[in-house]
Amino acid sequence: MIPDSIIVALQKAMAQDGYITRDAVNRIANEFHVSPTQVYSVASFYQQFSFTPRGKNVIAVCMGTACFIAGAEAILKMLKEELGIGEGEITPDGKFSIQKNTRCLGKCACAPIVTINDRVYEHATVAQIKEAVNELR
Ligand code: FES
Repeated sequence: MIPDSIIVALQKAMAQDGYITRDAVNRIANEFHVSPTQVYSVASFYQQFSFTPRGKNVIAVCMGTACFIAGAEAILKMLKEELGIGEGEITPDGKFSIQKNTRCLGKCACAPIVTINDRVYEHATVAQIKEAVNELR
């Protein structure tokens, strides 16, 4: 069983480096006397952890079935055009990234769901998300 403290250590590594580096995985594995593979498997289970650099503001558009049907694709299209980046990419100024392959976030009744950092937008609209992004520019 993986202790919660590994998750805390991963959160600290994310806060420090912006993503989970190979060095962080090895350091955490040593600290908790587990294999790097076990640390990777914990980190890859949780969407909050990334193995690649992310922007200062991370945007996730749920593309699960309910959100897709409710209009998530139009929101994602707008974001790609507004920010000039694709999923999994960072804007040149490092301010934004769009999370890749975001699947059901467990709030299907409120579809479409968009998250920007810790904020969750329920019944999100193109206009609402465009405004939220502009406020963060
Ligand atoms: S499909 Fe988007 S929250 Fe479930």
